[in-house]
Amino acid sequence: MEYAIETKQLTKRYGNFTAVDDLEIKVPAGKVYGFLGKNGSGKTTTIRMIMGLIKPNNGHIQIFGHEMGRNHNEYLADIGAIIETPGFYENLSAYENLEITAKMFKTKKCKINESLKIVGLLDDEDYDVRGKSVGKFSLGMKQRLGIANALIHSPRILILDEPTNGLDPAGIIEMRKLIRHLSESMGITIFVSSHLLSEVQQIADYIAIIDKGQLIQEGTIESINSSEQSFLILETDQLTNTIQIIESLNFDYENIHAGIKVFCTRKDNIKINKLLVNNTINVYNLESVSKTLEERFLGITNTLNSEVIL
Ligand SMILES: Nc1ncnc2c1ncn2[C@@H]1O[C@H](COP(=O)(O)OP(=O)(O)O)[C@@H](O)[C@H]1O
Ligand SMILES: [Mg+2]
Repeated sequence: MEYAIETKQLTKRYGNFTAVDDLEIKVPAGKVYGFLGKNGSGKTTTIRMIMGLIKPNNGHIQIFGHEMGRNHNEYLADIGAIIETPGFYENLSAYENLEITAKMFKTKKCKINESLKIVGLLDDEDYDVRGKSVGKFSLGMKQRLGIANALIHSPRILILDEPTNGLDPAGIIEMRKLIRHLSESMGITIFVSSHLLSEVQQIADYIAIIDKGQLIQEGTIESINSSEQSFLILETDQLTNTIQIIESLNFDYENIHAGIKVFCTRKDNIKINKLLVNNTINVYNLESVSKTLEERFLGITNTLNSEVIL
């Protein structure tokens, strides 16, 4: 698989504090990659390093297989980004703001209209806000303009740091649609950070979960959703015999208050139940429990950090 961004042992320290800790992520080309972590987990710091805005203390960053290293400017041509709220000249129009970027990147002026069209700030009929001063834009419009601005130099990767923060529900839906459109119609790799699991689940193909600057889990949205942790709570009238049966089936278990907790899938419950009945063990309680990604995410972050998140 081709990776748009790959980091190895990426580490950033501020004094004694490690903001990003030995981070290894792989962002598949052409996909939407959700970078999920609660506030303060190191998302923006990681993005700043990828953008070459701050230097890592250790580790490597590769962009489409090329080591960023010293000549990172070369690779930055592949990346467009909005980190936190995009800064524009409020008294200038949308078009004038993008003109500045176009000049900076020495791109053709036609890219300005093209970018504004992509983000829905200009259409062929009657919607045209090119002349409107940015100071009069809503936050949603500013975010779109930020994306248009990041697209001016036709990057292959777009990095969006919490793009839905502060948007109203309608703005959030529009932003999701835009992100999917950029990925599906234009093949741009999108790296999008968020502190909201539900947000990332709705837009990403791949997810990485980070906490305290460390990678907790990374994979396709399906693999992370289906790696659901399940277990069985079992209470019977013959604990010793029940344990013998569970051991004969090679399942891990632990003793809990009134019985045992068996680590198995829902399908295994049938097998276990049959064996118990065949061995004339009476069952008081047979309860199947599955932990969703949300619960696991909360669980993971809660065990590593006692703060309440989300
Ligand atoms: N320039 C800095 N100096 C000291 N600490 C910083 C600096 N930038 C970020 N941090 C700390 O690093 C941690 C990660 O921050 P950040 O990457 O902004 O997290 P996120 O974007 O996930 O909310 C936070 O605890 C933050 O306070
Ligand atoms: Mg941040």
